[in-house]
Amino acid sequence: MYSTVVTCWALILVGVLSQQPPSSTASALDYEYFKAKVQPIFLNKRPGHARCVSCHSDATPFRLQPLQKGSTTWNEEESLKNFEAAKRMVVPGSLKSPLLAHPLLQAAGGDFFHSGGKHFNSQDDPEWQAMKAWVLGKTGVE
Ligand code: HEC
Repeated sequence: MYSTVVTCWALILVGVLSQQPPSSTASALDYEYFKAKVQPIFLNKRPGHARCVSCHSDATPFRLQPLQKGSTTWNEEESLKNFEAAKRMVVPGSLKSPLLAHPLLQAAGGDFFHSGGKHFNSQDDPEWQAMKAWVLGKTGVE
């Protein structure tokens, strides 16, 4: 009887622990790769759409740093803040991360609606691919 109870608890414990993501994934999002390949996407103009930064430096939960007057990109301090903001939109390793799913067309695997429009029509889009690689843990800049 005793051993059955112990086994039972052991199984529950294993069940609970195995649902936790491995702690190493929490640090898997690389800053250098983000700065070089992902952050510029937020500045790029796509036909028929406003730039991500136009809407996402104000009022939305995904909050990028506003561009300083006369500046066409972000400095190091601002980039680090953008990195933190973008990280909050990502579950490392998950293609369901809002950063990936929100601007992607639903028919291509994105989610239902983004007020900012569907900027990427396919998962083959090079910009979307760059964001995906970051979410999947790509590091450095080649
Ligand atoms: C025209 C304005 C606009 C543009 C351009 C835009 N967005 Fe958004 N986005 C919004 C608004 C408003 C929301 C909140 C409502 C919603 O989820 O649709 C949002 C939501 C999001 C969210 C979920 C977190 C949040 O802040 O609610 C993510 C992630 C996101 N956008 C990413 C992007 C990316 C990446 C781009 C560029 C490829 C982009 N957006 C372009 C307006 C915009």
